[in-house]
Amino acid sequence: MSVNVGIDAIRFYTSNYFIDLRTLAAVRGVDPDKYMLGIGQDKMAIPPPDEDIVTMGASAAKSIIDRDGKDRIELLLFATESGIDQSKAGGVFAHGMLGLPARCRTVELKEACYGGTAALQLACAAVARNPSIRALVIATDVARYELASPGEPTQGCGAVAMLVTANPRVLAIEPEHGLFTSDVMDFWRPNYRDQALVDGKYSTRVYLQALQECWKQYREQSGRGYGDIHRFCYHLPFTRMAEKAHERLAKDSGIDLTDEQLDQQVGPSLAYNRITGNSYAASLYVGLACLLDTESEDLAGKRIGLFSYGSGCVGEYFSGLVQPGYRERLFTHEHRAMLENRTELSYRQYEDIYNLPFPTDGGTHTFSRYRTGPYRLAGVKEHKRLYETVS
Ligand code: HMG
Repeated sequence: MSVNVGIDAIRFYTSNYFIDLRTLAAVRGVDPDKYMLGIGQDKMAIPPPDEDIVTMGASAAKSIIDRDGKDRIELLLFATESGIDQSKAGGVFAHGMLGLPARCRTVELKEACYGGTAALQLACAAVARNPSIRALVIATDVARYELASPGEPTQGCGAVAMLVTANPRVLAIEPEHGLFTSDVMDFWRPNYRDQALVDGKYSTRVYLQALQECWKQYREQSGRGYGDIHRFCYHLPFTRMAEKAHERLAKDSGIDLTDEQLDQQVGPSLAYNRITGNSYAASLYVGLACLLDTESEDLAGKRIGLFSYGSGCVGEYFSGLVQPGYRERLFTHEHRAMLENRTELSYRQYEDIYNLPFPTDGGTHTFSRYRTGPYRLAGVKEHKRLYETVS
């Protein structure tokens, strides 16, 4: 007999600092409408020097752990493509900061932006095998391109933590899926670089091709079609990409999509991403959290379709059923408060933070205190990162 598994809690975290894309457009001599309308982004979140993937991931997870406890968490999957160490999993730092049980399997996963979905599906499989355990998935990333490159306005950062359990109270993940892997060079980051390289236009075409292939297998496996899905979430490198993806899906399904339908079916998942930017592995789930928080209609019992895309590339289409009472499990107020209380950076401040080198000399370095969540990166000593809890 199959077990009902999925997301029992979902919490999003991003940096307290952002730059308005109008500011960036003025410095770059670009019409701001290119950013606002053409790519569909208003602001991008910038991590201060004492924030990294671990502090963001642990900060996202803390509210869940504080509310739902840490017992029976036997799996911690930490998905990122902004890894801070070639050997030690970022999740092990987060495990320590969160005080999780020692009897836990902790590992880091990577396949560009697809890593979060790999983690979620593996967590569901582990819980289906042993429904008495709980799994914590943390997807966390910093999206970073070269200054003044076409990718620059699509930068951002953020983390999403999800508790995966049997009989989940937010979203039950359905077993059917559509998968696609293809060895392509649309976006990559060699180990010796801290900014991504990207063949931008090509990457958007591969994204759409992966969507079509995944959707085809999902339909074959599930016997469902476009009309069986109530709301659609897409991986969000920028919000226009999701709109284009949905237009393609509708067209392939023989639907003549109106602007109003596009707004209704995809719109509610976009607001957080519009003001935070790409957060790679976390991005699809920032969209899911946004949909659940902001959709005024009660979604209980409704099916949500999700498309995950990671450059390189791997895609997956899957779906979930929203659970009755899901609203009581959300962190809507915390998300709103966080997003409303951020500090705007000037262009100069953004560039200074961007150019600040990370110390690599093995000495002792203390980092200035910025506004972070409950955890911060206090410094580095003998090549060891020093994290601290913010009181
Ligand atoms: P670009 O080449 O500078 O932009 O970069 P453009 O000239 O194509 O303009 C963008 C859009 O703005 C166009 O619309 C223009 O017409 C419009 P479209 O043809 O696309 O419909 N535009 C305007 N609209 C209104 N008023 C104006 C105006 N001017 C122009 N005045 C690009 C665009 C996406 C290529 C760039 O931002 C980039 O390289 N981004 C990074 C790569 C990326 O995000 N790719 C997405 C797919 S791959 C993916 O999602 C995976 C990823 O998340 C990584 C991972 O998996 O880890 C990236």
